[in-house]
Amino acid sequence: MCGIFGAVAREGDVSGALLEGLRRLEYRGYDSAGLAVVTTRGDLEVRRAEGRLAALAARLRESSFGGSASVGIGHTRWATHGAPVERNAHPHRDCGGELVVVHNGIIENYLDLRRDLAARGHRFASETDTEVLAHLVEENLKAGAGGPADAGALARAVHVSLAGVRGAYALVVLSRSHPHTLVAARADVPLCLGLARDATYCASDVPAFLDRTREVIFLHNGEVAEITAGGYALRRLEGERVERAPTRIDWDAAAVERGGYPHFMLKEIHEQPDVLAAAAFDRLDEARGDVRFEDPLFDDDERWRKVSRIDLVACGSALHAGFVGRFYFERLARLPAQADFASEYRYRAPLPADGALFLAISQSGETADTLGAAREAARRGLPVAAIVNAVGSTLWREAHGVVGTHAGPEVGVAATKTFLAQLVALYLLAIRAGRARGALTVEQGRSRIHDLRALRAHLGALLEGQTRAAIARIAEREKDAKGFLFLGRGLQYPIALEGALKLKEISYLHAEGYPAGEMKHGPIALVEKALPVVALATSSPLLEKTFTNMQEVRARGGKLIAICSRGEAAASEVADEVLEVPAVPEDLAPLVNVIPLQLLAYEIARLRGCDIDMPRNLAKSVTVE
Ligand code: AGP
Repeated sequence: MCGIFGAVAREGDVSGALLEGLRRLEYRGYDSAGLAVVTTRGDLEVRRAEGRLAALAARLRESSFGGSASVGIGHTRWATHGAPVERNAHPHRDCGGELVVVHNGIIENYLDLRRDLAARGHRFASETDTEVLAHLVEENLKAGAGGPADAGALARAVHVSLAGVRGAYALVVLSRSHPHTLVAARADVPLCLGLARDATYCASDVPAFLDRTREVIFLHNGEVAEITAGGYALRRLEGERVERAPTRIDWDAAAVERGGYPHFMLKEIHEQPDVLAAAAFDRLDEARGDVRFEDPLFDDDERWRKVSRIDLVACGSALHAGFVGRFYFERLARLPAQADFASEYRYRAPLPADGALFLAISQSGETADTLGAAREAARRGLPVAAIVNAVGSTLWREAHGVVGTHAGPEVGVAATKTFLAQLVALYLLAIRAGRARGALTVEQGRSRIHDLRALRAHLGALLEGQTRAAIARIAEREKDAKGFLFLGRGLQYPIALEGALKLKEISYLHAEGYPAGEMKHGPIALVEKALPVVALATSSPLLEKTFTNMQEVRARGGKLIAICSRGEAAASEVADEVLEVPAVPEDLAPLVNVIPLQLLAYEIARLRGCDIDMPRNLAKSVTVE
């Protein structure tokens, strides 16, 4: 939610870098965008525009900055307080036009702060919570000793200002009188620094500067950074100095480009065979029929034997992966497992169980509800493990043990390759737990590893085969349907949920995912010709029962699209349209079956003219409750 970016260079103009950085962060919010720089003439100039970044770029072409600038900040907004209009766009100014602030997060006590500041004569130009920060720093900068020559004055003013602020924030302050410094701070919202030879960057996420440097400092909660072209100084809010070695990020810079695909989502769908390999293959130990993780937490057999229950907790697609994970732990490791919405779990006061393991799943590692649930679990004394894609993210750092999904950066707002990588990580963890607990023999472990290796070719074949043409045909026919129903049983039920979520979020069509056997208890009333029903009917011991549910749809005039294993003849007799997928072992079918559903959502959204990578009202990383 909101992307922030700042740059201080030794020389040259940073406005191009700022726009480019914002472009790479636009997936975080796209209600409005803005830039501010201090020019070599000493002017603090601000440009803002409602809507997408393209509108800001156009504004800059009409009205460029009055000179070159080696320091600046930018913001792309996902609106919380105040409508998505230009006056609420960041950067926000103080009264005197002396400084500007960009912010991601929510200032909880902003109304009190605003009232006090207004009583002291401050004038507000927006409805945002952020603007109080600009006025607070303004006051404390004036009150503090030292003028422009006092390099530390701005950082001190930020320190003092934040003492009275409650809430979650990542923020960056730029001041006209301190044109060689940016001051950044973080509490519960991600912020990192990129260290290059001739410039220093700060951003909400690494891809913003990945083409300029791979040396990254992740700020921790309660830290303030004073950033100059030559580096940075880090302090805790209480004042004590912090030293931290940079993390080297090995993501490929090209991964954050579309690489010839019309949309990131399509590119990311096509990356899935390689993502499977990256998430799994180096961890497979054929000789022992087992899996080896980098984090010692997962390698301790004794520890696994003592685990009595797994609490899988996540949001959105990651939770759907968790629903699949529940089956994996129960089947492969004979380990009781439950999966829950993070936003519910954290306030439900779940009963503690001796030996329970909390397992959070998150692409970004920054989702506020998932972090809140993980912290609540830790507070109750549970060990917290996490499956995370974003290296160095908050969840990554706070969990007691982490399985990285190695999917690389995902830019499309709809999760695709990271969902698959989460399924892979859960499957691997369940094998590990199964081997450690004696629920899987060496031979059984080997056979599952073998299946996983073979899956890469199946995913590749699915993406290159005829399925795409069949999906395009269905999409053309159903793009104006009144809604969709997705049905599945067992392991396929979470995939029905995921198929419905993909369609909803990028095409704005109503869609529901339902357990096929439960449909007769209500949703069957929806069935009619205008409601396409997608049935997940690949090989499984429950297939006959799924066929029965498909017959129930057909008997009521419903239009049936079936996802079936290649060679599954019965399906063609029941369904109006069959999408064939490679036949794979039942436990791996979720990784295969989700792909046609991702493509179906993509094609329908494309035909409906929707903004696929940046759907309305959404943001990639949900850092507010
Ligand atoms: C999926 O397509 C969504 N954009 C969303 O549901 C997402 O999975 C959810 O917000 C969780 O995000 P996380 O994995 O970064 O925690």
